[in-house]
Order: sequence, then C-alpha cells, then structure tokens
Amino acid sequence: MRLQKLILEQFRNYKNLELSFDPQEPMTYIVGPNAQGKTNILESIYLLALTKSFRTTKQQDMIGWEYEYARVKGIFEEDADEEARSESPQSLELEAFLGKPPNPQKSFKKNQVKTGAANFIGNCQVVFFHPEDLNMLYLGPDLRRAYLNVISVQVNRKYFSSLRSYLKVLKQRNALLHAIKDQRATPGELDVWDEQLVEHGSYLMFERAQTIQYFQNQLASTYQKISEGDENVKIIYHHTLHDIENPEELSLQNWRAHFSEQLDRTRPRDLQALVTTIGPHRDDLNFSFDGLNLAACASRGEYRSLLLALKLIELKFFEERSNQKPILLLDDVFSELDPKRQNLLLQAIEGHQTIITTTHLNDEAATGGPMRTHRNLNVRPGKYLEVSQGIIHEPTA
Ligand SMILES: Nc1ncnc2c1ncn2[C@@H]1O[C@H](COP(=O)(O)OP(=O)(O)OP(=O)(O)O)[C@@H](O)[C@H]1O
Ligand SMILES: [Mg+2]
Repeated sequence: MRLQKLILEQFRNYKNLELSFDPQEPMTYIVGPNAQGKTNILESIYLLALTKSFRTTKQQDMIGWEYEYARVKGIFEEDADEEARSESPQSLELEAFLGKPPNPQKSFKKNQVKTGAANFIGNCQVVFFHPEDLNMLYLGPDLRRAYLNVISVQVNRKYFSSLRSYLKVLKQRNALLHAIKDQRATPGELDVWDEQLVEHGSYLMFERAQTIQYFQNQLASTYQKISEGDENVKIIYHHTLHDIENPEELSLQNWRAHFSEQLDRTRPRDLQALVTTIGPHRDDLNFSFDGLNLAACASRGEYRSLLLALKLIELKFFEERSNQKPILLLDDVFSELDPKRQNLLLQAIEGHQTIITTTHLNDEAATGGPMRTHRNLNVRPGKYLEVSQGIIHEPTA
C-alpha cells in the first residue's frame, strides 16, 4: 500500500493541506522544530488506518480549535498483485470526517461511498513507531492489550467486530451484576449475556493466541540480530483461563468450551465482586529474558531492542497476512536508536513507504544525495518536507 496524496482540512493545526508523496521515493522526512505539526501528519494517516488517534480518545482534539469539523482524505495505491502481473495496481480513496459537539459525528468513506468503521478499518495498514511505545513494555496491561488490538484489527475485520461486541456485552453484564445486587434483576438473566460474552471473547482469545505465537516464533532470532547479548527472550500470552497448557494449539471450539465452563464457575465470585473477573479484557502479554520477567531484569537498552524487534516482526506479520506492504510511520524514533539499530531498521523497511518525523536534520542532509550522518542520525535519500506552524514546504536546495 502506498499513500500518494494526503488532504487535510481543519485537522489539528492544518487549515488546508494537500501533500503529494513522491511515487519513486519510499522515504519521506518531515522535518521541523518542536510543536510545528510533524506528529499531526502521522496522526492523520493513522486515523485513516485505524479510525482513531493514537494519542487522544476525544475526536474533538483533532479538529482545528477554531473549526466545527475536520476532514482527512488519503489517496492510496495498492501494491500490484505479483502473481497476476498484468493486473495494474488499484487506487483507493479513504476519507474520515470528524464533527465537534453539538454535532459530534464521525463518518467514513471508502472510494467516496459512506461506510461503517468495521469496513473502513484495515484498508490501509500502518506500523506506527514512537518512543512512547516503550511504555507498553513496562506499564499496565491495558497498553499491551491495546498493542495487540491495534495489530489484530488491521488484518482481521472479524477481530474488530468481535472486540466491539465483546466490550459492549461486558459493560451490560457488569451493569447487570450491580442490578442483581440491588435486587433489580435475577442471576438467571446473566445467561443470555454470558452466551454472547463467550461467543465474542473466545474468538478474541483464539486470535490473540495465534498472533502471539507468530511473534514468539520470530522473536528470538529477530532480537538476536538487534542486541549483542544472547538472552533467551520470550513473549507469553497471559490469559485468565485455567487448565490450558498450550493456548496456541487450542481450537476455537475448545476456547469456547473452556470459557463457558469457567464463566459459570466464577459467577458467584463475579456476583460478589460486581465485575466480570475472567475474559480477554483481563489478558496480558508477558515478556521474559532467560525466564525472568522483563521488569525484574531488563535495561533501558534491552527494552529498546525488544521494542524494535517487535516492530520488525509487525512488518512481516502485516505483509504475510494481507499481501500488502504496510506504511511505516516513524515518529522521532531515529534519534533514540544507536547507529547500528538505525541501520537494522533502515534495512528492514527498505521498499516500504516510510514517513519519518524528526527535528534533527541540517541543511546539508536536506538536500538529499547519498546517506549522510547528522548527530548520529542515519539519513537515506528521500523526500524532505519542512514543517512550520502547520505549513509544509519543500526546502529549497
Ligand atoms: N486541535 C488543534 N487545533 C489547532 N492546533 C492544534 C490542535 N492540536 C494541536 N495543535 C497544535 O499542533 C502543534 C503540535 O503538533 P505536533 O504534535 O504535530 O508537533 P510536532 O511537530 O510533532 O512537535 P514535537 O517535535 O514536539 O513532537 C502545537 O503547536 C499545537 O498547539
Ligand atoms: Mg511530535
């Protein structure tokens, strides 16, 4: 997948922007001082891929302060089907519209036809990488679940709709637990919600187990390339069900059977706790080095290497699952990596459209040409765009 043109209307600090990407040049650098609008560009592309932002849950935040709505439009070209060589690449137009209260609508169009979020998501895939991703490795499990979800929804529509349904049913079930305590409802009323919780929740756990297994299979060798050490690094699916030895081997049907049976068993506990105590909403990912939990032993450098390894595996995962190369959005990450890791990343992304934001480029590098190093930042030839207060221009050489 390749982004050819990005059009922003009243999105963050861009009043009107029309940005064309060079079809011959996979690398685009967005360069400028702090707070000029570099990340905003990546956020708008992310919105087209995932129907939401990576840094706010309030869509209003993305609308220009003085305006009532924002519109983001992307024109893409799909990768040509290599098997059917004669087939020319398909063009794709994606549009997101965000309204502000009192008209807070959020709507999507694919090729100019209105479509729901479930059909919009996954048309274009992105691997987004920013320094704050490190938080995911050591802060709360909700960040790791979000990480898994962001990967899964982009390659699997059923995952997206199951997740949405699951969270809705979970909320209703939890409300019912309260109603039962207040004697406004009876425990028997839980049956119908439990059935749906099992239906959607089992699918989520089944898919997560498969995805984590894919990552696990690639992790040791990918990590070894990045880090000097020979730690045995593992990623483990931590789910809330008992008596499951190898989650990746469990069929969907068996996930259902286990979840259903255990949900019945934990019902008394849930009625006391007034929340649903098992299910994929409580899942986690555990990372370990030589059998020790990451938090107990990893250095900052090891965290960085692990995160980079995960990103490289993501790239492969998307490509294998969707037959399209994802677009890479790299937000200020190069300055966080040493030259060796910068080079590994550059090798891995070769041939992928990549949009990189950075504050660190000098005039010399901005003229392109062969690879130059500036402040330990490896720079490849590419298209350079300078951003200043929501205005983008190509630097004059
Ligand atoms: N809804 C909005 N309307 C108008 N301007 C906004 C809105 N939201 C953010 N901004 C402005 O956008 C700018 C920040 O943009 P962005 O986060 O893309 O900066 P950046 O170039 O990535 O900076 P840094 O290098 O610090 O990461 C700030 O000037 C902020 O005031
Ligand atoms: Mg930024």
